[in-house]
Amino acid sequence: MRKAICPGSFDPVTHGHLDIIERASKIFDEVVVGVGTNTSKNTLFSTEERVDMMTLATSHLPNIVVRQISGLLVTYCEEHGIGSIVKGLRFAGDFEYELQMAQMNARMSDVETILLPTSSEWSFISSTLVREIAKVDGDISEFVPEVVAQRLAERNKG
Ligand SMILES: Nc1ncnc2c1ncn2[C@@H]1O[C@H](COP(=O)(O)OP(=O)(O)OP(=O)(O)O)[C@@H](O)[C@H]1O
Ligand SMILES: [Mg+2]
Repeated sequence: MRKAICPGSFDPVTHGHLDIIERASKIFDEVVVGVGTNTSKNTLFSTEERVDMMTLATSHLPNIVVRQISGLLVTYCEEHGIGSIVKGLRFAGDFEYELQMAQMNARMSDVETILLPTSSEWSFISSTLVREIAKVDGDISEFVPEVVAQRLAERNKG
């Protein structure tokens, strides 16, 4: 079975992430969505909330599993029989970062990196922008799955 991982902080998951995950699910037999916990980022949503939202947002895809991940990504891949890392590319900045990560991961392991270009429809979306717009009561419903729009609205009320 060909397994891949889509890692990220997903704080929160957006249509940009889901586009990459859905496309990866057509290429691989199983895709693990790895929700990162050892991020240097100070996340808005807890790990449990990020996993929960991702699970709901991907429930229509049969070959996706959502897992909380920590530690070195290539070690996780080796321990779980995952041969490929799939990442999305939005702009030149993503490319520079992902190229360096891909080369480092290739030096440390046999895990391959697949970089998928973003769909033009979602290329401008980042979780950071979604959080910033939601914080000042802007409408983010177009950019995120329903469950995320609801949770962000609840947070703003509370
Ligand atoms: N709109 C998008 N289109 C394609 N890929 C995306 C998009 N947004 C994020 N990704 C990809 O998803 C993966 C996980 O990214 P991450 O969790 O950092 O999301 P992010 O939107 O960049 O969040 P943040 O703004 O908090 O950094 C990365 O490979 C990233 O390039
Ligand atoms: Mg990012």
